[in-house]
Amino acid sequence: MNFLHKGLVLFCTALLALSTLLVSGCGQDAQADSRRVIRIGHAQPQNHPEHAAFMAFKEYIESKLGDKYRVEIYPSELLGSQANLVQLTQTGAIDMCIVGNALLSSFSREVDVFNLPYLFASNEVFDAAMDDPNVTEPIFRNTQKAGFKVVSWVNVGTRNFYTVNTPINSPADMKGLKFRVQQSNINVRMMQLLGANATPMSFGEVYTSLQSGVIDGAENNELSLTDNGHGDVCKYYTYDVHQMVLDDVIASNHFLEEVKDNGDLEVFEKGFKLISQVGKEKCLASVREAKEKAETEKGVHFIYPDQRPFVEACQPLYEEVLTQMPSLRPIYDAIQVYNKEYSEKKAKEGGK
Ligand code: GCU
Repeated sequence: MNFLHKGLVLFCTALLALSTLLVSGCGQDAQADSRRVIRIGHAQPQNHPEHAAFMAFKEYIESKLGDKYRVEIYPSELLGSQANLVQLTQTGAIDMCIVGNALLSSFSREVDVFNLPYLFASNEVFDAAMDDPNVTEPIFRNTQKAGFKVVSWVNVGTRNFYTVNTPINSPADMKGLKFRVQQSNINVRMMQLLGANATPMSFGEVYTSLQSGVIDGAENNELSLTDNGHGDVCKYYTYDVHQMVLDDVIASNHFLEEVKDNGDLEVFEKGFKLISQVGKEKCLASVREAKEKAETEKGVHFIYPDQRPFVEACQPLYEEVLTQMPSLRPIYDAIQVYNKEYSEKKAKEGGK
């Protein structure tokens, strides 16, 4: 089955699942309940920080506007893969979803800037920069042309390489290996520069591809080893920290216009911020637990390499991207200011 065909089949399955859910939502309860139902889809299991973040959003919205809105959350790819979720949000079939930032680059090219490898000097810089509307707004506003807006984001740790049976200590160890990456041009180019082969595919397909040897490794946070079972197959995890796990919460233009017309946008905006805050709070503990579990229960070896050769290999990518999309330069420069402040602060602390 070719990709287009497979994509269509998946999309139709998601639509079918959605219509079943919507129809089942129109039973007796629905007759008595005239509240606007807000439908949110995501791809993670229910113990994932993102589910907790949406539960907090639901509680907040229903505590403030419970007479007008009811929030329904569909986890675990119940409505389809992340690509399907974006399409459903785009058309307004559902109201919101959360997906990996890379995935949005095929709808709005500029978001790829946040996927540049080794862009953020630390998680601290990442949080500070992404909380700065001067950095995010020009990029997130742009997605509206595609039918949705990025209204919030969640930091789910860092992305690192992991493999079935090759310990990665430097880019030389990656030569010729096939790694699954998220579907974005920058990710494909990053792997080329590191000497490896990129295999873009959706997250849900990674486990079986690792198991069957279609790919030699992947790259993601520690939760993938445990929650998604990749640690059953992959025994080497290398902290090269090439990207932060940025997941974007998107809301359909239809939905945002509707809540604005109802005079409720302010409350929703506070709810969107809450998603980011709760996701961030839960993430640190979840990642720590996942690492411990992967090490003790699944026998995963964690490697702490010298990051410099990885960073050096990827240098050409910055100019390539900034030349292709010059509008990204101010954003890139603003992030560099955060990186500089952070390294100066660290140097000062080290000097004490
Ligand atoms: C992370 C992220 C997901 C994303 C996945 C991926 O797990 O939280 O939203 O889909 O990476 O690599 O596709």
